[in-house]
Order: sequence, then C-alpha cells, then structure tokens
Amino acid sequence: MLNVKGVSKTYEGKVSYRALTDIQLTIEEGEFVGVMGPSGSGKTTLLNMIATIDEPTTGEILLNGQNPHQLKKNDLAKFRRRELGFVFQDFNLLHTLTVEENMVLPLTLDGEKVSEMKKKAATIAEQLGITEIMNKRTYEISGGQAQRAAVARAMIHSPSLLLADEPTGNLDSKSSKAVMEMLEEINRTKKTTMMLVTHDPQAASYCQRVIFIRDGKLYTEIHRGDNRQAFFQKIIDTLSLLGGDAHDLSSIRV
Ligand SMILES: Nc1ncnc2c1ncn2[C@@H]1O[C@H](COP(=O)(O)OP(=O)(O)O)[C@@H](O)[C@H]1O
Ligand SMILES: [Mg+2]
Repeated sequence: MLNVKGVSKTYEGKVSYRALTDIQLTIEEGEFVGVMGPSGSGKTTLLNMIATIDEPTTGEILLNGQNPHQLKKNDLAKFRRRELGFVFQDFNLLHTLTVEENMVLPLTLDGEKVSEMKKKAATIAEQLGITEIMNKRTYEISGGQAQRAAVARAMIHSPSLLLADEPTGNLDSKSSKAVMEMLEEINRTKKTTMMLVTHDPQAASYCQRVIFIRDGKLYTEIHRGDNRQAFFQKIIDTLSLLGGDAHDLSSIRV
C-alpha cells in the first residue's frame, strides 16, 4: 500500500543538510510498522514526506500506486484528508472545542450534515471507548484521553494510512499503554495500515515490525512474532547496537 522508492531528502539552506539517503521501504496493507532511531536520524522527515507535508528531493513515494506529490493543490488537500490520518505528540486538539467537536472537525471541512457527523463521531467514540468524554472540553480531560480523542479524530474518515509521530511522547506509562492498545485494536479490527515514529521501546513493541534509521539510512528491521515481551527485549538490544542517543534508555518503561 505504501512504497518508498529510493527517497533522499536534502534540506537546503546556508548549509544544506542531507537528512535521508536512498530510503527503500514497502508497507503492506494492514501492517503496523514502527520507526525508531536516534534523534536527528530522519524519522520525522520520513514521516512528513509520507504525510505529503514535505517533498522528497529525489525518489518517489507511492500510496496505493499513486504519487500524491503529483496531485494539484486541491486534490492533494482532499487526498490528505481522505486517505491519511495524523496523530502528533502534542495531540493538536483545539482547546475551545469539545472532544466531539474536535473529532468531527475533518468532516466539517467536507461540508457533511451535522446529524451525519454526530452519528459517525458516536460510532467511533463507542468503538474506541471514549463516549463518556465526548462533551468535555480538552482542558477537562487527561493527556491519555486527549490522545485517544486525537486518534478518534484521525480515524473519523477511515483513513487507509494512519501516521503517528511520537504519539506517546507526552504520556505517562499507563496512558501510553492505553493509547498503544487502542492503536493495536484499530489495526486489528479495521485493518488500518499504521506507521508510528517513537523512541519508546514499550510503544514500539506493539508494532508488528520495527525499522531502525541511523544517520538518514535504513539500518535494520525486526519482526515481532507472537511474543511482545520478547520483541520488546529485541528492540532494546537493537537500539543498543544502533548507538547514538537511541540508547537513551531514560524513556524505557518496563
Ligand atoms: N526544515 C528543516 N530544515 C533544515 N534541517 C532540518 C529540517 N528539518 C529537519 N532537519 C534536520 O534533519 C535531520 C533529521 O531531522 P528529523 O527528521 O526531525 O529527525 P528525527 O525525527 O529522527 O529526530 C536533523 O539533523 C534536523 O536538524
Ligand atoms: Mg522527530
């Protein structure tokens, strides 16, 4: 479903900086893939190019065979809204709105009927177990609940690809676990393809496959199998081989 073909990215500036070099990556429909690597290794750059927020310098990215970077501006906006879901570290919820209003925001852009929007929001909230906070404002809920609301918002269009950049970065271990279990459940039941950037081995252990980046290049990848605890250990071992600040184990929670 996702095909990253020979992608490199150079940021131009006073000093140009090559953030990614010749990345090859295929993600199958329904896969849940983690991306790890030291800070500055190019994880967000890669995610942003897949998210169509930024463009590769060379190479191409195909989503279901289509190159979104070739779309015209309006079509790209539509594509982004319909095919992609985004979840960020700081939730990106609007504070003056309720959880429900935040969730339906992407639909209002499509001019959908209010009754229809409410129905969709209720269904997703029910599926994701956040019905009880629908009428709360964002300052009345916890970080974990805010991130689950953000995931619900990202899912309201039933995107084919959900992209998450450090979604548990601001959460304590209990909320982090709840968010990861929620993502795993969505992946399992809705078959949504997911790509998650994280430096948290515990969060990464929920993925089926984790790819490691170092200095803008693919370093290695490992697969989960059925034992998450064993996979967690394997992730830690790989991070320590990877070096850099990826073995910054301060974020590790067992
Ligand atoms: N807009 C930008 N302009 C110039 N350099 C950038 C820009 N964005 C990121 N970089 C550089 O590219 C490298 C990779 O950054 P990033 O993808 O954010 O890494 P990560 O998410 O793995 O921490 C870093 O050295 C960063 O400083
Ligand atoms: Mg980053």
